[in-house]
Amino acid sequence: MRMESVVARTAAARVRIALATYRPEEGAESLDRDLPVLRAALEGAGAEAVVGYWDDPDVDWAAFDLVVIRSTWDYSWRVAEFVAWAERCGKLTRLANPAAVVRWNTDKLYIGDLAEAGVPTVPTRYLAPGAPAEFPDDREYVVKPTSGAGARLAARYRPEERETALRQLERMHDRGLTAMVQPYLTSIDTAGERALQYYGGRLLHASRKGAVLAPGTAYDADKVAHPRLEPWQPTPAELAVAERALAAVPRRTDGSELLYARVDLVDGDDGNPCVMELELVEPNLFLWLHPESVPVVAEAVVKAALR
Ligand SMILES: Nc1ncnc2c1ncn2[C@@H]1O[C@H](COP(=O)(O)OP(=O)(O)O)[C@@H](O)[C@H]1O
Ligand SMILES: [Mg+2]
Repeated sequence: MRMESVVARTAAARVRIALATYRPEEGAESLDRDLPVLRAALEGAGAEAVVGYWDDPDVDWAAFDLVVIRSTWDYSWRVAEFVAWAERCGKLTRLANPAAVVRWNTDKLYIGDLAEAGVPTVPTRYLAPGAPAEFPDDREYVVKPTSGAGARLAARYRPEERETALRQLERMHDRGLTAMVQPYLTSIDTAGERALQYYGGRLLHASRKGAVLAPGTAYDADKVAHPRLEPWQPTPAELAVAERALAAVPRRTDGSELLYARVDLVDGDDGNPCVMELELVEPNLFLWLHPESVPVVAEAVVKAALR
């Protein structure tokens, strides 16, 4: 074994990394396919990698050099609790991504911030509880919550389906949820949605998936979150929009960097890519589709833990 790799392994051996996930329902298994792969890769790199439930009061987060938020997929209906945990955890040890980023990114009002910063985004109208319904009457549109994942509580409507859309809006407002109304971007049916993944400040890989909202799908139905996923070679236009979105993330006052980011893009009415979602909390990495990325991710995580 060469000297440098001995040094690298010895340093990594001291590193303790927690991978934060969610507690699946009683009897169910975790759906996070990245988790076992990432854990094994970190262990292979000589680090200690432990999986913990974010809401487990018995986990001593301070005992880790780094806590990586991996798949805390129940947060979208427990936002306040989750953000409070992130803030607590971020005070005990290094958290990736940092708590301030988590706070900003768990509320899709950030799409409005990105638009204000000049980043091309899906045109969005926000309807907070109490706001009157304003739906397009000349085209199909989407209604979805500002706190969502896996297309939960999302649906598309034609103008003549206004009554159903109103019922969804009312249900969301009754639960205290703010709704987002967007034009249904029909390009998604042919060109799909592209996810550009960044890790350790560099493009890791990209994937493309098909449209999730089939016509007539009820908003409270379970949806297939990533239909027909395949590797994708991002275009220069997609790379440019993704980098603009990342540059528009509010600056961290503590100087900490983003460890990971996923930028989801669709083509707008003008045919140019725009941001559907900027996922800085718990993105699926799709490592099973991109095995070549596994060592890159493990190395970036160990590096962040050693910083
Ligand atoms: N404006 C839209 N036009 C077309 N499809 C949309 C639109 N908004 C959402 N969708 C579909 O719904 C899915 C989920 O919406 P998204 O905003 O990504 O929320 P989530 O956080 O649930 O992933 C998208 O992947 C896409 O297939
Ligand atoms: Mg999405």
